[in-house]
Amino acid sequence: MSIRELGSSRVSVNLFTFCVFLSCFPGLILSAIVTLDSIVIYNTHELIKAVKPRVYFECRGENKTEFPDVKEKNVTYKFNGEESWQPLTEFSGKKCKRCGLYEADTFKPDDKFDEWELCPSDFNASDGKYVRFNNKEFNLTFWCPKCVPGSPASNSPTAPHKEEKEKGMHIVLILLIVVAVLAFCIVVGFVAYKYWQKKKREHDQARFLKLFEDGDDIEDEMGLDHII
Ligand SMILES: *[C@@H]1O[C@H](CO)[C@@H](O)[C@H](O)[C@H]1NC(C)=O
Ligand SMILES: *[C@@H]1O[C@H](CO)[C@@H](O)[C@H](O)[C@H]1NC(C)=O
Repeated sequence: MSIRELGSSRVSVNLFTFCVFLSCFPGLILSAIVTLDSIVIYNTHELIKAVKPRVYFECRGENKTEFPDVKEKNVTYKFNGEESWQPLTEFSGKKCKRCGLYEADTFKPDDKFDEWELCPSDFNASDGKYVRFNNKEFNLTFWCPKCVPGSPASNSPTAPHKEEKEKGMHIVLILLIVVAVLAFCIVVGFVAYKYWQKKKREHDQARFLKLFEDGDDIEDEMGLDHII
């Protein structure tokens, strides 16, 4: 194999490693969005009971997400993750975020329901849900399917099996491509080797003939000498 052949097979091996790496750790590379699945508040911090609370979620350094529908105590609000104000936040690695649930106030500082470290590792249930329950304040369920360790990334709650299958197909496709590239490299290498062998043989033959001719010359000279 020539240096170029070696080079191209090394490129395909690197490509293969990269693909395997990508398929094994989708969560490390892709970002994982967190949506609100359901919420119940047990308490509002309004002094005047008639005033409807303005509940919002915020991670430090990020935008506030106000929940426009959440107005009543002890009512479960369920969401599908596609609402205009979703998602709440996004993880791009394993790092936690300082997040909280608050109530906006017009005339005094905002009230805090709770504030805590929200981590990708919290989403360790197989359905990608994480329940944050505070006895007097609220029961929140977050959803982050891509945060679940060791499970294939999935965007839709209704079709995890389809996603899994698609991912399997994806890996099979990658393997097929890698095998095809390797086979191509081997064929090219073999052809190059044959060509090189042929060239070498021709070269050797030419050299042999040249030697032969040179030998004739010497013989001629010797013949001349003999005559002289
Ligand atoms: C925060 O809100 C601003 C203005 O509404 C928007 O331009 C920005 O992209 C938002 N940032 C994030 C991280 O959503
Ligand atoms: C909190 O809400 C979740 C989802 O609705 C529910 O499964 C869970 O039992 C609730 N927890 C409490 C303590 O009410």
